[in-house]
Amino acid sequence: MKIGIFGGTFDPPHLGHVSAAAAAWAELGLERLIIIPNTVPPHKELAENSPPPEARLDMTRAAFGKIGGAVEVSDIELKRDGKSYTVDTLAEIRELYPHDEIILLMGTDMFLSLESWRSFEEIMKTVTLGVFKRSDGQEDAISEARDRFSAKYGAKTVTVKNDPIDVSSSEIRAALPDRGGAAWIDGEVYGYIIRHSLYGSKPDFDWLRVKACEMLDPKRTRHVAGCEMEAVKLARRWGEDESAAREAAIMHDCTKSLGLEEQLRLCEKYDIITDSVERGDAKLLHSKTGACIAKCEFGVSDEACAAIRWHTTGKADMSTLEKIIYLADYIEPSRAFDGLEELRRLAYEDIDAAMLMGLQMSLEDMRDRGIVPHKNSKDAIKWLAKREG
Ligand SMILES: [Fe+2]
Ligand SMILES: [Fe+2]
Repeated sequence: MKIGIFGGTFDPPHLGHVSAAAAAWAELGLERLIIIPNTVPPHKELAENSPPPEARLDMTRAAFGKIGGAVEVSDIELKRDGKSYTVDTLAEIRELYPHDEIILLMGTDMFLSLESWRSFEEIMKTVTLGVFKRSDGQEDAISEARDRFSAKYGAKTVTVKNDPIDVSSSEIRAALPDRGGAAWIDGEVYGYIIRHSLYGSKPDFDWLRVKACEMLDPKRTRHVAGCEMEAVKLARRWGEDESAAREAAIMHDCTKSLGLEEQLRLCEKYDIITDSVERGDAKLLHSKTGACIAKCEFGVSDEACAAIRWHTTGKADMSTLEKIIYLADYIEPSRAFDGLEELRRLAYEDIDAAMLMGLQMSLEDMRDRGIVPHKNSKDAIKWLAKREG
């Protein structure tokens, strides 16, 4: 059997790693591929904000599982204390597969530094080296080293003809806090990073839009896009953080399509405290469950989640961002009702007056329909009326 071994820090695993492994799998005719995340690689220290080994193991499983076939992610190095040396790992693998051909996969940079590895001559004797490019134009360097290793140490090398994806984990780690990096990472891995707030990550807006759309009734996507546009305009007008306004608006109705039963199930799952009025009203619950999902599943900031939380009823002591999301939801371009133009004008001239008008219109509408308004809306009106004098 031909067995490929591919070790690395995978901090985090990215599409460059996966595409190289997939190319090796397909081109070298591997029958088994073992991916091995390292604890502490000998040639480098882990980045300061690296997640625990278990998280790298989870991410590596999610990333490489997509290749399919007999691909296995092994924790043999993570279970070992101290620095990880490839020669020790290969000895363990060799015990498990004494009669099989083992191909040790590595990118150009590792291949070129091979003579600095512990017991590299032993490694070269034990396994075939499988080399893939990390970026274009590395063919000459690979063939020069291959010929030299062959002549000097009797090493056997096979090359993988891959289309390299030129990105590094360190570049991705640097991009994640600025809402970047998503394009270079498998979607499931990116979701894991965001959900666990790894590497100081903040969610990419395009990714958030896709996630929101997946959860929304298609009829509501226009409303949410309009709300995002309006929220950003209002944030600019009132000197608020545009990114927070944007993420709040994108996610504000993320659980809106769920019925009462599912809303209540989410409340139970996430320990959301509800009152008796809310427990009978999916519309009231969607702002609470939406805020919770936005935080726990999609890494949305606390201030944005608070704005999602209060976008249906309002409350006393609302922050400017909370008012912005309440109003953006109300006046976004796809809305049409009597008094809309006046409300739009006020939203940009006197935000508290606009809030008061919006809440009063909403309460009037509810009374016309025989719905009892929530206490939070009445508190908001009292608070705003006092401020407005
Ligand atoms: Fe809503
Ligand atoms: Fe909405």
